[in-house]
Amino acid sequence: WAASAQNHEDFLQCLSLHSQNSTSISQVIYTPNNSSYLPILQFSIQNLRFTSSDTPKPAVIVTPSHESQISTVIKCSRTHGLQIRVRSGGHDYEGLSYLSELPFVVLDMINFKSITVDTETRTAWVQSGSTVGELYYRIAEKSKVLGFPAGVCPTVGVGGHFSGGGYGMMLRKYGLAADNVIDARLVNVNGEILDRKSMGEDLFWAIRGGGGASFGVILEWKIKLLSVPQDVTVFTVDKTLEQNATNLVHKWQYVASKFPEDLFIRNFIRRVNSTRDGQQTIQASFNSLFLGGQDRLLSLMQESFPELGLAKEDCTEMSWIESVLYFAGFPRGESLGVLLDRTPLVRLYFKAKSDYVKEPISQNGLEGIWKMFYEDEAETAQMIMTPYGGKMDEISEYAIPFPHRAGNLYKIQQSVYWEEEGEVAAERHISWIRRLYSYMAPYVSKLPRAAYINYRDLDVGVNNQGNTSYAQASIWGFKYFKKNFNRLVKVKTMVDPGNFFRNEQSIPPVSLRR
Ligand code: FDA
Repeated sequence: WAASAQNHEDFLQCLSLHSQNSTSISQVIYTPNNSSYLPILQFSIQNLRFTSSDTPKPAVIVTPSHESQISTVIKCSRTHGLQIRVRSGGHDYEGLSYLSELPFVVLDMINFKSITVDTETRTAWVQSGSTVGELYYRIAEKSKVLGFPAGVCPTVGVGGHFSGGGYGMMLRKYGLAADNVIDARLVNVNGEILDRKSMGEDLFWAIRGGGGASFGVILEWKIKLLSVPQDVTVFTVDKTLEQNATNLVHKWQYVASKFPEDLFIRNFIRRVNSTRDGQQTIQASFNSLFLGGQDRLLSLMQESFPELGLAKEDCTEMSWIESVLYFAGFPRGESLGVLLDRTPLVRLYFKAKSDYVKEPISQNGLEGIWKMFYEDEAETAQMIMTPYGGKMDEISEYAIPFPHRAGNLYKIQQSVYWEEEGEVAAERHISWIRRLYSYMAPYVSKLPRAAYINYRDLDVGVNNQGNTSYAQASIWGFKYFKKNFNRLVKVKTMVDPGNFFRNEQSIPPVSLRR
């Protein structure tokens, strides 16, 4: 303890020494005896599992307001043996942006939230501490016919989200957020600020889907803005088992990835009380964005998915930005300003997992899933099935580190939520989702059983502490990145051979032979 307390003191002194010539860092440093320390730490934590008193806490939180302060934090952390956890929106499912078993500093990018939209060049620079909600708002402020294909929840931070891929309702039309990043600026392990040109194409490739935390601190992204129509159409059609949900989900698997790319229909599975008799049942919600008007949508649905019985009354035409609010769960007519509110919409305890489906799951297989949703722990569980195809099939699996492209019908996110504090409740719910995951093994991708890094799941493997080995990291690395894992290791070896930027699922460097 004494040694680490001394390290922390030395670290703080290092910060103030280095910052004498740059913007004063003292105003953005928070230590545990500062009254703002806990509120700042907890502000963007999404998963209540990581808010308990025994969750490891940072020695220091720094909320830089100037780029030079980030270089200073990196240099002083290296000198005084502290780890860095970089946090943008704080949505990491396993809390890797704000916790570590080793003594650490949180670099919270919350003050890096400027967004500059240029409608002439159809580009924007967005700082990493911005949320996707803020980005959508700033785009819509300037144009009604431009948008961006990123996440659905407005409070997700662009720092983590774009660096892990990032998808939303326009995935089939435009791919991932990371597919549409055209430049970036970051601070590397030596505290140097680099852009696409000076970092080179390998590093620029790696941070678009390989997870930013292994490679440096991303300051901002330059993105391509994309066309959206003046009016889009949305619908959500709920079907319970009594209303033929199993057949509909079964059919959906065959058609959802084949629709024209303007049409995106995802599927939510939950347990609900039936409105008919109050008995519990399983509900599939078909939740859709169509980049066009309702007449075209209705005829398309009549042609390719008539079984759903979509009717005019189910559809609403609105602007693209209104659809952002709709999918985030806000009522119609809500002011667009809610997109600027960074306070998490809900905060619960949760655990999530992901899977990729290459062949439709049989009706029996689906019924087995429903059965698991009747178990006690699954009261607030859900499964989201996100269709692939369209643009996702066209982009090579090597274009960026995110490899899950052609050959996937859809992605699944399984998640379970609970409200009770403590280990017992956590254990019960986590063990339920692990059982669901085992049950699903025969129906999903194999060798590797693929997973999405932005749905971080430490069950798929973690690095060994200290000297992270390639072999250990390969266990989770090939699931997230397939063959791209090896290229990520090469880039890491080149840019951070001493493995300063590391966490439980960071890319390891390989030691170079002497
Ligand atoms: P956070 O700040 O927790 O960072 C996540 C990881 O990125 C950490 O390892 C962190 O160190 C690193 N990192 C963050 N900022 C960095 C920076 N500036 N430089 C370097 N490394 C940095 N995903 C999706 O694709 N589509 C969706 O619709 C949603 N929806 C969604 C809803 C909710 C409620 C949650 C909790 C999560 C999602 N996600 C999602 C998952 C989301 O994409 C994922 O958690 C992102 O990593 C979150 O990015 P943040 O910046 O918010 O996280």
